[in-house]
Amino acid sequence: MASPARTELPWVSRSKIVFNSNGVVSRRHDQAATPLGLFVFVTDSQGSSSLATLGCEPESLWDSTPGFPRGITGNLIYMDPFIPVNEPDLSGNEKKYLIECIDTGWISSEGPYVTKFEEQFAARVGRKHGIAMCNGTAVLVAAVRALKLSPGDEVIMPSFAIISCITAILESGLKPVLVDCEPRTYNADVAQIEAKITPRTRAIMVVHTYGLPVEMNRVLELARKHNLRIIEDAAEMHGQTYHGKPCGSFGDISTFSFYANKHITTGEGGMVVTDDPALAERCRSLRNLCFQPARRFVHEEMGWNFRLTNIQAALGVAQLERLDQFVVTKRRMGALYTELLSGVKGLELPVARNAAAENIYWVYAIVLMEEIPFDAAEMMERLKKHGIGTRPFFWGMHEQPMFQRQGMFKGEKYPVTERISRRGFYLPSGLGLTEAQLRRSADALKKVLAG
Ligand SMILES: Cc1ncc(COP(=O)(O)O)c(C=O)c1O
Repeated sequence: MASPARTELPWVSRSKIVFNSNGVVSRRHDQAATPLGLFVFVTDSQGSSSLATLGCEPESLWDSTPGFPRGITGNLIYMDPFIPVNEPDLSGNEKKYLIECIDTGWISSEGPYVTKFEEQFAARVGRKHGIAMCNGTAVLVAAVRALKLSPGDEVIMPSFAIISCITAILESGLKPVLVDCEPRTYNADVAQIEAKITPRTRAIMVVHTYGLPVEMNRVLELARKHNLRIIEDAAEMHGQTYHGKPCGSFGDISTFSFYANKHITTGEGGMVVTDDPALAERCRSLRNLCFQPARRFVHEEMGWNFRLTNIQAALGVAQLERLDQFVVTKRRMGALYTELLSGVKGLELPVARNAAAENIYWVYAIVLMEEIPFDAAEMMERLKKHGIGTRPFFWGMHEQPMFQRQGMFKGEKYPVTERISRRGFYLPSGLGLTEAQLRRSADALKKVLAG
């Protein structure tokens, strides 16, 4: 853990500090945790108080550290280590496979782990082809482009989503058409889709959000009825199913992210999966600058370097070995948070299960009800003071300043998106989170609400 810079204490000699003597300090209440920093609360001769960092050396060095105040008295405050919103679990074969990459020299996208990861991941979601790329945004860009839609064609997508979804649509010169989301699953309200279908509609982009899958049966039915393609963003849904069928198996083309906060990670990474060999081939070409096999540097089309490295894929293979275990762990974490918070007034907690699936808690997402007199931004600030890392919910596409400046979505209202984007946030949810950290996070939330 990085040490914060040592702070000099010029005020020590002129401050009256109420504490023990000889620089010997009382013991930390939680012996298991490493102090992130050592803080002392001092009161000066005018009676005003201030908080100052002494440093974060091991306790054994405090007495021998030059400049460490001696013979003082004061209140020593231990700062609990900050709990990050996400920490991955890399305790399986990750190191072994990474060393293998270095020992064999396979560090670029040419190595054997890339194919292995593609084959194993595609098989895991029941698809014929997997095309690994550098992140979950790039795969969306490539997936949309692979469909060869025409400029101005419309793609229906949720107003509540990550920016990557809409930029992929815009990148291909297509028109995003929004629908609001459901108030409790935060997924697109599929009942609103049909009314948005026009003669220019060519595709529906579904985005499974936070832990429960989109109502796919209705989407599939609409796609069949109106001859629409489905782009399925399953970035957050590793190991999740919809009525027993894996998420990522529903789209004409489906995508995943392997960013460090996902159930399985390659640090940065993504994958397109599909059963269509033509779409797969096109994605392979698009990710590799559209080099042509026969005349490499002669291009018929524009592509990108979206390749995933063998090093990243090696991580992916090691992580995939433990996906089932990760899903169990995340569900256990979700259940424990719910147990600890279910009596607390004013919180909308995640739905544990619906008819289609059991929540996999990509993140433990909470919405503050109206009775809480402040919004998610304020809640996150207050939790930060307790050393708890959080993240806000996505912000509605129709409220993005860059689109508003262009007059896009003018006059459009998506009330659920507007409410949850202001009132929603998530607690530390990573696989590296310990039970003690989870309990501390829940306690901090309760303390903030208790005022
Ligand atoms: C639903 C969804 N789609 C796409 C992405 C983008 O993935 P990446 O961060 O790997 O570019 C994310 C990232 O969290 C996501 O949650």
